[in-house]
Amino acid sequence: MNPSREASGPTTVVRREDYAPPAFWIDTVELAFDLDPVKTRVLNKMRLRRNPDVAAQALRLDGEDLNLARVLVNGAGCSFKLDGETLVLENLPEGQDPFDLEIFTTCAPEKNTQLMGLYVSQSTFFTQCEAEGFRRITYFLDRPDVMASYTVTLRADKARYPVLLSNGNLVEQGDLPDGRHFAKWVDPHKKPCYLFALVAGQLVAREQRVVARNGREHLLQVYVRPGDMDKTEHAMNSLIASVVWDEARFGLPLDLERFMIVATSDFNMGAMENKGLNIFNTKYVLANSATATDTDFSNIESVVGHEYFHNWTGNRVTCRDWFQLSLKEGLTVFRDQEFSMDLCAEASARAVKRIEDVRVLRTAQFPEDAGPMAHPVRPDSYVEINNFYTVTVYEKGAEVVRMMQTLVGRAGFAAGMKLYFERHDGSAVTCDDFAQAMADANPSSDLARLLPQFKRWYSQAGTPLVQARGVYDAAARSYTLTLTQSCAPTPGQAHKEPFVIPVAMGLLDAQGAELPLQLAHWSQPEAGTRSFVLTEAVESFTFINLDSEPVPSLLRGFSAPVVLDFDYSDAQLLGLLAHDSDPFNRWEAGQRLALRRALNAIRADGPVERDPLDAAYLEAMHTVLRHPTLDAAFKELVLTLPSETYIAEQLDVVDPQRVHAVREAMREQLALALHDDWVWAYETHKDNGAYRPDPVSTGRRALAGMALSMLCLAAHGNGDLVWPGKAYQRFKDAGNMTDRFNALASLVGSGQPLAQDALARFHAMFRHEALVLDKWFALQAGATDRGGNVLPAVRRLLAHPDFHLRNPNRARSVIFSYCSANPGGFHRADAAGYTFWSERVIELDAINPQVAARLARALDRWKKLAEPYRSAAREAIARVAARPDLSNDVREVVTRALA
Ligand code: ARG
Ligand code: ZN
Repeated sequence: MNPSREASGPTTVVRREDYAPPAFWIDTVELAFDLDPVKTRVLNKMRLRRNPDVAAQALRLDGEDLNLARVLVNGAGCSFKLDGETLVLENLPEGQDPFDLEIFTTCAPEKNTQLMGLYVSQSTFFTQCEAEGFRRITYFLDRPDVMASYTVTLRADKARYPVLLSNGNLVEQGDLPDGRHFAKWVDPHKKPCYLFALVAGQLVAREQRVVARNGREHLLQVYVRPGDMDKTEHAMNSLIASVVWDEARFGLPLDLERFMIVATSDFNMGAMENKGLNIFNTKYVLANSATATDTDFSNIESVVGHEYFHNWTGNRVTCRDWFQLSLKEGLTVFRDQEFSMDLCAEASARAVKRIEDVRVLRTAQFPEDAGPMAHPVRPDSYVEINNFYTVTVYEKGAEVVRMMQTLVGRAGFAAGMKLYFERHDGSAVTCDDFAQAMADANPSSDLARLLPQFKRWYSQAGTPLVQARGVYDAAARSYTLTLTQSCAPTPGQAHKEPFVIPVAMGLLDAQGAELPLQLAHWSQPEAGTRSFVLTEAVESFTFINLDSEPVPSLLRGFSAPVVLDFDYSDAQLLGLLAHDSDPFNRWEAGQRLALRRALNAIRADGPVERDPLDAAYLEAMHTVLRHPTLDAAFKELVLTLPSETYIAEQLDVVDPQRVHAVREAMREQLALALHDDWVWAYETHKDNGAYRPDPVSTGRRALAGMALSMLCLAAHGNGDLVWPGKAYQRFKDAGNMTDRFNALASLVGSGQPLAQDALARFHAMFRHEALVLDKWFALQAGATDRGGNVLPAVRRLLAHPDFHLRNPNRARSVIFSYCSANPGGFHRADAAGYTFWSERVIELDAINPQVAARLARALDRWKKLAEPYRSAAREAIARVAARPDLSNDVREVVTRALA
């Protein structure tokens, strides 16, 4: 148990409105580490000065889990005290500014199971300091608005820790007595302490020298464990592409001689943008065609880009306080999304990426915005900041930035970025500062005109609902579209003011042809997509010169993070699916058709219908699947039914078993009714030649994989043995992990007897590949439930010799795959899934509160559940909440869930 955790100690709420500048500045930091897993000694010499703008007060330094040995002020002993874990110096020498403060502490990296601060993973030292981990390394003003220059000396046993890394440039290295050695690093850039990092261990690096546009040479390095060198090429290529893209699109060059990425298998999140020394979860670095899927390859590209882009948006300009987290995260997610889209050669691949991003937003962020943890993109308060690294701050934050780009245009957005860096480079600022720079760089834009109202996207939580109604007036040849916006209450925010909502739209005629748009006061019509800005609660737009009632294609490209309600007829949706020039809305029309059928079957009385899909829907899917020009990736997205989670969000009361049964019935019907099309799709898409993770061949593999899983599902229904046999053969012969894993998943997903043998083979083949074993665990824990068989299987997986609860990736692969990604298996009428959940939350909390708190959120939406699930879920949460020794992390989540 974390020794700093006091049983039922008071939880402090931190409020944005309480922000005050620091009473002291720290200008320079010299750190010297004697690295030892059991007891690492840290000597921290700082130069401080009083902040002249703040009334004189004691110096209070944050600390956590530290052993304090010595404190010297200007080289002499001084009086100090500990207030809880805070080091307080009250009697600092009068009139001496700046002054030197020297603090000597020790910590125990090997015992650090929270993976915050300095810890050991596979005999290698790593750090994670964001958000408040630096205080677990030394006493400090652990807040992002205190920026200092760092000099770091690392000393360690040379044989066990041959590689010694920290931020910036290596200025000195050499041997020491007793088989030890040292390395000294100087970071030329001032930084907040959350960007500090060190790494020490046995590592090898793939290296690449690149020359930037300005002629400067840089050394790029990707460090991994010696056996993993053959999995570093894609990460390096992604890094090079990131450097090139940020210069080309935003004129932002690499400001370091050396840029390093290091991979660790023990990491709480995806990756961390420490200055010049990014530390990554192995999942987002290591890939080759034999061990990684297409999804892994594309995630690596995004995450490498994301962390690299933080070098400007996050590091050069950082956050004033943690409430401003979206300043760097929303903006950087937007940048990594744009990066991935710009790397697509084909416009259709850009659209596929956009659909995937929106799918994440709607299946993960919309529920968050409607649940007990709902918070604005810029939160107003928190108990534990780690709980606010959320899809709202990241993905909704990115949508807010995207709307700004929509309002000022691409060139205007680039100008806004330029002004933002001119004004704020080297400082710690707020979301307001970013929005202001965007507006000021575009003074005649809608953003500048509407800025205070636009900023409600930062302050108001909840997903707005836009209800659209259209009335055609045949006599006037006009069509009036009325848009009404509203937003449901969220915790602490009963009433919402109207948002600024960009609505990109077009009108189609009955044949699906795009109609020119002309508002009454426009002198002439305009073709193609137009953006209208909704600012009032209710607003109408009248389009003229229309010979018949048009079909509106609204919110094209998902131009705002809202729920759009329009009472489309089936015929209109089928028309949009067949003809809309906007690929996003084309996909969306298919999703609406499927969702409508799912909801009808769920709401119907009596047992679940066997065949919930009608001929028109099946015919439309047949047409998409066989379409001569649509690409494979897009087809796969259209043919994929809305997830159980997304369907559940549309219901007021959710019976998860009924949702599951209906969706499964739809899948089986699609599998059987389109059998010949699936055979065709599989046969014509299965061979891609040599493996390349580009969008076109990725899309072909995705469609072939889907076809194979549908053919196995159909076989499950009609007793056919041919397709399971083919899937098994494919599993054995596949030339890459994507095809192999898809074949395995087809067998497992359709409950084929061959699945057990394939799983055993897969395990034997990859037992030394941790990331592949994660997939093996996740596939079984996420398998379609058949008569309650998943939970017993999950319990057996926990007892497997390869299961390690302490390793976050492994814990996630079993526990999260079951509790958060397998609603049909998890929501059991006997409540055994919830019991399992509460046991794991409590067990994990004693090891790693951050990971435990993420798991705790699996029951966020319990209030929506039908009985008996609802009461059982509440009891399980109450059981967790009753524990006296919970971390702040889990305490905050369960308290809000029960409120
Ligand atoms: N800044 C990192 C990223 O977005 C995330 C680090 C979060 N870490 C944490 N312990 N909350 O890439
Ligand atoms: Zn980030």
